[in-house]
Amino acid sequence: MDKKRPVVVYGANGFSGRLIAEFLREYNVPFIAAGRNRSKIEDVISHVPGIETADYEIAETDGSVDELTKLFTGAKVVCNTVGPFIYNGPRVIEAALRAGCHYLDIGGEQTWARQVAENWGAKFAAKGLLAAPGTAFMSAVSDAAARLCVDSAAIDTLETLTMFKGIPTFGSTQTIFAVIQTDGYYLEQNQYKPWPRATRYDVVVPGSIQTQLALAWGGFPHPVWFKDHPQIANVRSIGGLLDRQIMEGVAATEKLFEEQIRPLPKEEQERRLAEMANSVQGSTPPRENSREQRTIDVIVGRGTTDFVQCVIFGTCCYKQTGLIQAWAAHNLIHSAPKKVGFASAAQAFGHRELLKTVESHGLAKAKLHS
Ligand SMILES: NC(=O)c1ccc[n+]([C@@H]2O[C@H](COP(=O)([O-])OP(=O)(O)OC[C@H]3O[C@@H](n4cnc5c(N)ncnc54)[C@H](OP(=O)(O)O)[C@@H]3O)[C@@H](O)[C@H]2O)c1
Repeated sequence: MDKKRPVVVYGANGFSGRLIAEFLREYNVPFIAAGRNRSKIEDVISHVPGIETADYEIAETDGSVDELTKLFTGAKVVCNTVGPFIYNGPRVIEAALRAGCHYLDIGGEQTWARQVAENWGAKFAAKGLLAAPGTAFMSAVSDAAARLCVDSAAIDTLETLTMFKGIPTFGSTQTIFAVIQTDGYYLEQNQYKPWPRATRYDVVVPGSIQTQLALAWGGFPHPVWFKDHPQIANVRSIGGLLDRQIMEGVAATEKLFEEQIRPLPKEEQERRLAEMANSVQGSTPPRENSREQRTIDVIVGRGTTDFVQCVIFGTCCYKQTGLIQAWAAHNLIHSAPKKVGFASAAQAFGHRELLKTVESHGLAKAKLHS
């Protein structure tokens, strides 16, 4: 029997899954393209550029913990793209742990990051394995830039803003709506403090004359990644789409949720949010175009007398996500991560290394001012 391929991409036919496959091929990493529907995976993967030179196989799974454990056993790394992660993450991370695999996902949901940190981090660490949710454009890139700021100045306070222009996919739209029910937190003097619900933030984005509208969007993972950091005590992260009209719609939905949906039972809340997301995006958008789908991360660091700012101008948030996952998986195949248990991609593989990777692919460029 053939040796097991070292990486399993779960949700391989999704918009992000196919891009992970594309970059795994570039890194010459053999992989298993897995999901719940073989014919959908075959169709999508057959259209990945250059796929005829990749070493891969396709696997269909019912997605139960037992079936996923069987699928993952013998592999080294699981790349999970099946969101919303607050719904779908637990069964996949449990199977990864049982199978003895490193776990990566692309979820930017703070509630999920906290669950991984609090429920899974120590279990993965005990086995020498990494559990790294958020190994994706949002928020691995801004986290790496934040760590560059920490290196560069005597700061104790970070504010991050992450925004992208583009058409959210079906899965992203489901997730944007699903996180509305969750409470987001920021860090103040190393304590979690709740963001006020349904609140809008006008932001200034470098390179743009008009202000943009950002939201706390469930809080982002940074406060979890920086909890108990020896230097940083305060972290606030916000973000959104570089499209005021879409953001006005999301902000209005947050308000409507508070007024009409939060009083309903949890299952009904989830059903109503999914239904609203379906009505916004029911299909898969076209491949990204770097002249259209731009990204920006702004990180501001402040200390008693010191200040630093890092701005990352980038393109194609989904391509960045595909690249970061493949790069992380490639790293894990060849060497041990710098940190095991719960960690961000920058902690596990190096923040400068992460930034150099997106920069060398022409997907993002960091500018540091202090
Ligand atoms: N942090 C970031 O920067 C970032 C970037 C990209 C995406 N994301 C997140 O990643 C997730 C996926 O995004 P995407 O753009 O790849 O979405 P997508 O194109 O809709 O793909 C979702 C994938 O998940 C599968 N899936 C969905 N529900 C499933 C279930 N219950 N069981 C098994 N498979 C299931 C889908 O399979 P079927 O086709 O069979 O339904 C598909 O393969 C979302 O949560 C999104 O927010 C985050």
